[in-house]
Amino acid sequence: MTHNIPSQAQLDAHWMPFSANREFKADPRLLVAADGAYYTDSDGRKIFDGLSGLWTCGLGHNVPEIREAVSQQLGTLDLSPSFQFGQAKSFELAEKISQLMPQGLNRVFFSNSGSEAVETALKIARGYWAIQGKPHKTKFIGRQKGYHGVNFGGISVGGIGANRALFGETLSVDHLGHTILPENKFTKGLPKVGAHLADELLDLIALHDAGTIAAVIVEPMAGSAGVLPPPQGYLARLREICDQHQILLIFDEVICAFGRIGANTAAEAFGVKPDIMTIAKQLTNGAIPMGATVAKQEIYEAFMAQDKPHYMLELPHGYTYSGHPVACAAALASLEVLQRDQLVQRVDELSGYFADLVHDLKQCPNIEDIRSCGFAAGFSLSHYPGEPARRPYEVAMAMWKKGFYVRYGADTVQLGIPFITEKSEMDSLMNALAEAFNECA
Ligand SMILES: Cc1ncc(COP(=O)(O)O)c(C=O)c1O
Repeated sequence: MTHNIPSQAQLDAHWMPFSANREFKADPRLLVAADGAYYTDSDGRKIFDGLSGLWTCGLGHNVPEIREAVSQQLGTLDLSPSFQFGQAKSFELAEKISQLMPQGLNRVFFSNSGSEAVETALKIARGYWAIQGKPHKTKFIGRQKGYHGVNFGGISVGGIGANRALFGETLSVDHLGHTILPENKFTKGLPKVGAHLADELLDLIALHDAGTIAAVIVEPMAGSAGVLPPPQGYLARLREICDQHQILLIFDEVICAFGRIGANTAAEAFGVKPDIMTIAKQLTNGAIPMGATVAKQEIYEAFMAQDKPHYMLELPHGYTYSGHPVACAAALASLEVLQRDQLVQRVDELSGYFADLVHDLKQCPNIEDIRSCGFAAGFSLSHYPGEPARRPYEVAMAMWKKGFYVRYGADTVQLGIPFITEKSEMDSLMNALAEAFNECA
């Protein structure tokens, strides 16, 4: 098979996202096809998808049900205006999503990405307080190492310095400290120590006054920073403090929702219910972009109860492609396969096997810490002097040569394997990783 390799002019024309453009374009890594848990690259090699795309394709690639639903939808209703008119699938999907959420989180606002889901959540939170007669509750509390996408709201509440440094002034936010503690190194699942870190929120409330704070936003399990499961009791304590001080709690479940940690949501897995949740990636299995923000019913009802003529908007916010019919078709098919094939349960059942393998790599060179939860794992690697991101890059390139795609970011290597991964595939992945860690010592 011959594949279309982009010319230099074509490579130059595309300014790639979150990529080292110069490095990539000097020696492009091109994918040409995908099926199940594997990509095919432009040399015809099979590449195991160790991050499910970008935490998106838990069901594997080329799922026939999604393909057919998308194709049928394109031939039936390719687009309907999302403002003031509707199409049945967005309502069907909204109900379906609310059935998979913790009880009471049942009002779904559609967008096209995790970043947009986050912006929507932040705007709903501020708007909610404004219509409650508390317009000064506008400040947000994020957390160090948090990732909430790339829009201005998201980078404001986000806690990854490199993603903010170039862009000047952000929203008015403050940050909790991250939850990495030396005593929790090499923990499988939720670390034992660290619930007390949630009490930092009390200090921030003392500093800013709860009357100025709209919401706290955290990833229940931080993904992009290298898989950081929350310490036991930490999220419950955040919930308690938010309740005591009338602050909304937002869970950014863009990575967690729909199976990644062996439950429908992290809220369900960890037994803590937020007021607002953001979801995206696994919603359509990555086939068509889609995000959503799920609010508690009473938040929606507060907007509906505003004293306005019935033909006026309750929330002046939305995207041309909110609830796009093709994305809805993909999401409905994807959630159906997820449930039919009991993949959430599968992740839960096999997560112990996966965690054991991951943590067996502790003895490899330069491993500073390993964390795991569900089908996600993060390895922190020791730094070259002044170059924290170099070793993970080298490991990921060694893995690519061996036929495995893994994510590298900051000083971590990350795994987010497809929910359909067989034990033997996990074994091969870990053998390759052990080799790569040794080669990059
Ligand atoms: C927790 C979290 N929130 C938001 C986002 C942003 O999503 P997107 O890249 O679809 O805008 C991501 C992406 O990785 C994420 O992990």
